Amino acid sequence: MGAGVARISAIDAMEILDSRGNPTLRVRVGLDTGVLAVASVPSGASTGEHEARELRDEDASRFGGKGVRNAAAHVTDVIAPALCGRDPRRQAEIDHLMIELDGTGDKSRLGANAILGVSMAVARAAAQASGLPLYAYLGGPGARRLPVPMMNVVNGGVHADNSLDFQEFMLVPHGAASFAEAVRYGAETYHALRRILKEQRLPTAIGDEGGFAPSLPDNEAALALIVEAIRAAGLEPGRQVAIALDPAASSFAAESGYLLAKSGAGTKTSEQLTQLYAGWIDAYPIVSIEDGLGENDWEGFRRHTAALGERIQIVGDDIYVTNTRFIARGIAERTTNAALIKPNQIGTVTETIEAIELCRQAGWRCVVSHRSGETDDTFIADFAVAMGTGQIKAGAPCRGERVAKYNRLLEIERELGGAAVFSSPFATAGQRQ
Ligand code: PGA
Ligand code: ZN
Repeated sequence: MGAGVARISAIDAMEILDSRGNPTLRVRVGLDTGVLAVASVPSGASTGEHEARELRDEDASRFGGKGVRNAAAHVTDVIAPALCGRDPRRQAEIDHLMIELDGTGDKSRLGANAILGVSMAVARAAAQASGLPLYAYLGGPGARRLPVPMMNVVNGGVHADNSLDFQEFMLVPHGAASFAEAVRYGAETYHALRRILKEQRLPTAIGDEGGFAPSLPDNEAALALIVEAIRAAGLEPGRQVAIALDPAASSFAAESGYLLAKSGAGTKTSEQLTQLYAGWIDAYPIVSIEDGLGENDWEGFRRHTAALGERIQIVGDDIYVTNTRFIARGIAERTTNAALIKPNQIGTVTETIEAIELCRQAGWRCVVSHRSGETDDTFIADFAVAMGTGQIKAGAPCRGERVAKYNRLLEIERELGGAAVFSSPFATAGQRQ
């Protein structure tokens, strides 16, 4: 034990609420120097089949079975005794120790929520003990790239009770000169969209990620509305503000194909969906499509990427679940050209970093992402800067748990001052429009 090295002295966990009013975990890690760090775990609704398991109590008498008291008990009774006395900067070792303590392939014994909460809080405690902001501790001296935000302004799928099959229609304010300006482009477009919806007597109620959730005649109508809103905000569609989609197709994949039940558009094959997207890419300034097909449709995805991947970013979310095992297959089979990165899909900070490193080696892009069920925790904001992924998906510029991430990024950009970098990974988007 080196002299003066801070050690973990206490870990506890409690049940709190997420942005949907469901229970989730908050973990506290204390060091013997008096440092106290907190982390809260997010929770998805359109989860991938192979995600690490979030442990729920399944006690129907509390929160419809969604309580997390057992996961909290695993933190205090199993994880805490094993970690106390350790140097919090040994992140990889701590994470691997928890993986071993759990002993399952999907973290189902202790719970991925329990493990991730500790993993994130340990990183924060180590950052504080080092006297560094989290992004600088995790990313080192090179961490200075602010991500282009993907702001989900129209919500559908399982995130809203409306007519849209596709889950997310996002603004990509990539033509801004700084992150702060990108946030302004996004917020101004969001407000313009609200005005347009009101004028058309459409509801301005919002979905789980803060985007509007109107019932429209079809999915394409959302794209037309967004382009109108970008223009109404005085911005140029494509060059200044582009569009990204996350249809989250696993959520409407059926035996017979893709069932567009909410809009009433019938069933489509992988090829038909890809053709639909291709037509949209011609007509609208789309720069990225995530989960355009379902998580088990590897062959469909390969053809989808062969058809569209030269023109736009093709992101895999449910199909990879931030797991190097699936990402490696995707790289070998050219399934996509980018991956979504969600720490709670895999369950530790170390494995999340490994997933990003694997993508990098293949020349793939990564988008760091929130979940539809969130808290005020801003870990992913610092994490995106630390990893320099250049893209983050954190919801609409609305609702406290969403803007918390954007506000943290504003703070980081300000702190970095002249050293901050903001550049578009989609440099050609404007030229097409
Ligand atoms: P989820 O959705 O957090 O509800 O799983 C987000 C996504 O599909 O990207
Ligand atoms: Zn997704």
